[in-house]
Amino acid sequence: MPGTLQESVSVWKDDMQLKLVPGNSAGTVTAYYLSSKGSTWDEIDFEFLGNLSGDPYILHTNVFSQGKGNREQQFYLWFDPTADFHTYSILWNPQRIIFSVDGTPIREFKNLESMGVPFPKNQAMRIYSSLWNADDWATRGGLVKTDWSQAPFTASYRNFNANACVWSNGVSSCGTNSSPSTSRTNSWLSEELDSTSQEKLQWVRKNYMIYNYCTDAKRFPQGFPPECKLS
Ligand SMILES: *[C@@H]1O[C@H](CO)[C@@H](O)[C@H](O)[C@H]1NC(C)=O
Repeated sequence: MPGTLQESVSVWKDDMQLKLVPGNSAGTVTAYYLSSKGSTWDEIDFEFLGNLSGDPYILHTNVFSQGKGNREQQFYLWFDPTADFHTYSILWNPQRIIFSVDGTPIREFKNLESMGVPFPKNQAMRIYSSLWNADDWATRGGLVKTDWSQAPFTASYRNFNANACVWSNGVSSCGTNSSPSTSRTNSWLSEELDSTSQEKLQWVRKNYMIYNYCTDAKRFPQGFPPECKLS
C-alpha cells in the first residue's frame, strides 16, 4: 500500500494495524512513518526488516529532526508479526514522541530542546507507507538477499486511526495549546507515560532491544549525543 494521506498535520496520535510479509521476507523492509518535506525534514519511523522463514523480524525505529537522524533503536518482537495483525502507534505531541506496539511503549523520545536537542515541532508531517527492497542492509546486515522467486511480497494494513492537529492557512484545528477546551478534547496533546507504562517500556528495553545508538560508542567517538545522557 504505497500511499499518502493528503493532510499536513503538526502533531499526531495514530494507530495502524499491520500484518507483515510472511514466509521468506528477507531483504524486504515494510515502513510506516511520518515525514515532512524539504532538506531539513522531520521524520518518525517504524521500519520492519524481514527475514528468512522462522527467523525474527527486526523493528527499526528512528527520529529525524531538521534533516538529522542517526537515532536508531532496534527491537525484536515478542510475537510473530506475520501471523496476525498487531497495532503500531506513534504519539507525537509537543513534549515527546512515543512508539508503541499493541499498547506497550517501546521507545520514548523526549523534547529536550532546552538542552539544545532539536525536536520535530515546527514542520507539518504526512503519513507514508511503503514496502521496498533493502537487501543491501536489512537482513543480517545485508548478508541475506531478497529471493525474488517469492515475489510478490505483501503486507496488510487495516484500521488506521488518527487524531491530529491539521493546519490550514496558518491556523491549527486544535487551537492554541493553552486553551482549556484543547486539553479536554485532545488529551493526547499532553499524554505521558504513567508508572505502569514506564515499567512496560523497561521490560521491552531489557528483553527485546537489540540496538541502541545511545550505547554504540564506536559511532560517537566524540561523545554521545546529549539526549543519551538523560535516558
Ligand atoms: C534474522 O535472523 C538472524 C538469525 O536469527 C538474526 O541474527 C537477525 O537479527 C534477524 N533479523 C534480521 C532483520 O536480520
